[in-house]
Amino acid sequence: MAERILVTSALPYANGPIHLGHLAGAYLPADIFVRYHRLKGSDVVYICGSDEHGVPIMLRARKENVNPQEIVDKFHNINKKSFEQFGMSFDYYGRTSSDIHHRTSQDFFRRLHEKNEFIIKSEKQLFDPEAGMFLADRFVQGTCPSCGYEDAYGDQCEKCGISLSPKDLKNPRSMITNAEPVLKETAHWYLPLGSYQPRLQEWINSHSEWKNNVKNQVQSWFTDGLQDRAVTRDLPWGVKIPEDVAREAGIDASGKVLYVWFDAPIGYISATKEWAEKQNQPEAWKHYWQDDDAKLVHFIGKDNIVFHCLIFPAMLMVHGDFIMPDNVPANEFLNLEGRKLSTSRNYAVWLDDYLNNFQPDSLRYVLASNLPESRDTDFSWKDFQARHNNELADILGNFVNRSVTFAHKYFDGSVPALYALDDLDRQVIEQLKQAPEELGKHLENYQFKSYVLRFMDLVRFANKYFNDKEPWKTRKTNPENCATTIHLCMQIVHNLAVLSEPVLPFTANKIRQIINMENKLHWHDAAQLNLKQGHPVNKAEILFDKIEDEAIENESQKLQQALRKSSDSEEEEKQKSEEITIDDVMKLDLRVARITAAEKIKKADKLLKLHLVIGEEERQIIAGIARQYDPQNLVGQKIIVVANLKAAQIRGNRSQGMLLAAADGEQLSLLTVMDDIPSGSKIQ
Ligand code: MF3
Ligand code: ZN
Repeated sequence: MAERILVTSALPYANGPIHLGHLAGAYLPADIFVRYHRLKGSDVVYICGSDEHGVPIMLRARKENVNPQEIVDKFHNINKKSFEQFGMSFDYYGRTSSDIHHRTSQDFFRRLHEKNEFIIKSEKQLFDPEAGMFLADRFVQGTCPSCGYEDAYGDQCEKCGISLSPKDLKNPRSMITNAEPVLKETAHWYLPLGSYQPRLQEWINSHSEWKNNVKNQVQSWFTDGLQDRAVTRDLPWGVKIPEDVAREAGIDASGKVLYVWFDAPIGYISATKEWAEKQNQPEAWKHYWQDDDAKLVHFIGKDNIVFHCLIFPAMLMVHGDFIMPDNVPANEFLNLEGRKLSTSRNYAVWLDDYLNNFQPDSLRYVLASNLPESRDTDFSWKDFQARHNNELADILGNFVNRSVTFAHKYFDGSVPALYALDDLDRQVIEQLKQAPEELGKHLENYQFKSYVLRFMDLVRFANKYFNDKEPWKTRKTNPENCATTIHLCMQIVHNLAVLSEPVLPFTANKIRQIINMENKLHWHDAAQLNLKQGHPVNKAEILFDKIEDEAIENESQKLQQALRKSSDSEEEEKQKSEEITIDDVMKLDLRVARITAAEKIKKADKLLKLHLVIGEEERQIIAGIARQYDPQNLVGQKIIVVANLKAAQIRGNRSQGMLLAAADGEQLSLLTVMDDIPSGSKIQ
């Protein structure tokens, strides 16, 4: 019987566009997996959607002075569309602001309450007296108790990574009013994870097949010991706490919502319900969530491991009606040109931007070849270009093109006959026979990189076959042999369309059109020869145009610019925050100096040696201004120098002071005086 699988990708927050880090973590591998399973005939449903709650969304709304709903509407639509253009084949893309989701989450919460799973604790928490609101998670910033970083958030320090609760912060301040928070009593529902730990451990231990990076992280949570987790918050945006539950607990629920990490994963369930309704089979979601035959697989990035391997499973387990995840093949992170991706600094490659400039399959292929499956990996534009040009264009594109073109030129645009086989021909048939099984095994085991690698090896082999058989010669010397070669090449072309579909869906479709085989065959049919002799094929089409250097430089520029901008604004921040006193200013002895001589320094193309007089005193200063100033133009100029700087040796030359100049990148302008004033005059 066909396997039944429910596949999910982490619901992205609807407060910004999708970038490459997202794709490499939770989306592309899932889509490859799902497409493979569909071809294999598995009964698979693939669910995703927007995560529309949480404090960052509220903060963004506040900053832009709009309602949070406007923010999530905007990014829900943007992300849904760019995912589509990237070829993500979700069966349903939901959103957590939907009615069904709110009801499903509330029912879930109610059930746990009825089963007495929660602990209710009343505690003092940070409250902003000016805004009249509790400061959950990211609504408060302060100094990290662990590393001293001054801008740590209420839920986590981004510097040292430690997870925090708002009360842990030193010198807390409200993100809304900047006010100093006060402590105020409030009641919340907690999930006693510690008491579930033995059951969770037993469950995890039954899954030795999980990826090591996932098991290791989970193990370290166990070692630290799981703690009670609050699953409600005092916030105005989110899924409201059911009134009946609050009433029974004797708690005023107004202004309280479910914690975003409580409701978001339930979004997988509610989206499956919505999918079922759209199929006109409103009960169908149960086959995937409540049937022991079904497998639940969550694709996520490593920052989501604790939620998908411990907290959500604990929720599912104590709820009782649902199956547990079968696997959580989490990926590590993707870096960008050797640096950590940063959305706040715009150091990222955004999917919608990418799609304006390149085709989706190139990125799918390059990312899939380089997924952070077991450790962080790096994306670079140069590598992108090289893989697109040297592998997609020169190997895959070339093989399809030369085979189809040959069939058109010499066999009337149809598949020639198959005659007697030689050793090379038999090797081809053997390779094709093994390919679906072998590639499929990698896919079943979540080894997407190996699948892509082996796929491209197969295409290399096909090209070599074409070369070794030399059909352009046998055409005259041995026409039957030539026909056999091209017959087999056309069979390979077709089977490549099947085998490439998970990673290159757009290309697979194009190939299918070219060879006039638009019906999708079963994955395992790619083990056989599927084209009949005489089958007409269409004209060849270029599958991958080469990517020029210019396009790549453009993209690198964008990243460089983001880096410059963020270092500029950091610099500004620093200068703003580090105020100095008049005493600090007085320490500098700034003087007017007159340049008496200037010369270049050998083998130092940036440096000039300047002779100056400051009043009566003669000095020599080495300055990095040779690119901007010609020595002879400097003589006689009056400039400003720091006269009391300790002397130093620069490239073997003594330098007694430092001159002042305004700089903007490479551009430089020496400071001077507006009126004629004697050298040696003090700047004050
Ligand atoms: N929005 C979360 C993130 O981007 C992921 C939520 S996954 C879900 O990190 F399971 F909670 F939906
Ligand atoms: Zn810290």
